[in-house]
Amino acid sequence: MFVKKKSFSLPPNKYFNKIICLDSVSSTQDYLKKIAQTGMRGIICVAHTQTNGHGRLGRSWFDDEENLKFSMLFDSTIFPCNLPLISLAAGVALKETIENLYSITVQIKWPNDILINGKKICGIISESASAGMTVKWVVCGVGVNLNMKKEKIPQNLDYIATSLLAETNKRIEESEFLKKFLELFCNYLTILENGRGDILIKKYQSFCDTIGKKIKVLLENETKVGIAKKIDEQGRLVVKTEIGEETFSSADIVHIR
Ligand code: BTN
Repeated sequence: MFVKKKSFSLPPNKYFNKIICLDSVSSTQDYLKKIAQTGMRGIICVAHTQTNGHGRLGRSWFDDEENLKFSMLFDSTIFPCNLPLISLAAGVALKETIENLYSITVQIKWPNDILINGKKICGIISESASAGMTVKWVVCGVGVNLNMKKEKIPQNLDYIATSLLAETNKRIEESEFLKKFLELFCNYLTILENGRGDILIKKYQSFCDTIGKKIKVLLENETKVGIAKKIDEQGRLVVKTEIGEETFSSADIVHIR
């Protein structure tokens, strides 16, 4: 059974008209993907706890009730080939939200990780369905390690993850964080729908710590090494490797230097 716990209000916007706050759910992502089948759109789901939160590549997402976990269901007039730009838009909006609320600098690691001093504080996952040239729905999920106490960070994640509270000693309420994020994210959605993906990519590229670095690209059966050159018009990473310029649409990468 789902119990309403927290209350959030939506800033004025043209993409979302309903926000559902659940005490416990397996995954806000899965919850909204089910709702997407009913034809409903424009919904945000925030959960106090998730029992099966997950990220990209089927990885599980650690749950702490002090962290912010939400997913957004919407439709979009962008072309399906531009769908990867939605995650980039969420990444830029998260970076700007954090820097604005905490006065600190955070890094974006391509494609979707937001880091402080090399440790992850936010993850983004975007899932969608399209028919021909039309996007039917998008569910974009965001996990922010917001107010998790340092001692609650599991030991096995200690080297790779941290929280905003642990890094800054500052507590920001979930509702304030979400409101700021939504203002920025909706603005980027409009930029994308106006055919100005170039504006977003330029900004993402200037924010993305991966660009210019020597990196390893971890593919299913091989690893490539090269210099990350740029983000192309569909959000893919262009890397100069020993065989020339290669383009990757999704992969795990490691920054070497
Ligand atoms: C990643 O880093 O791989 C993405 C992590 C995304 C986690 C969020 S938490 C809210 C939403 N519900 C989920 O099950 N996943 C996303």
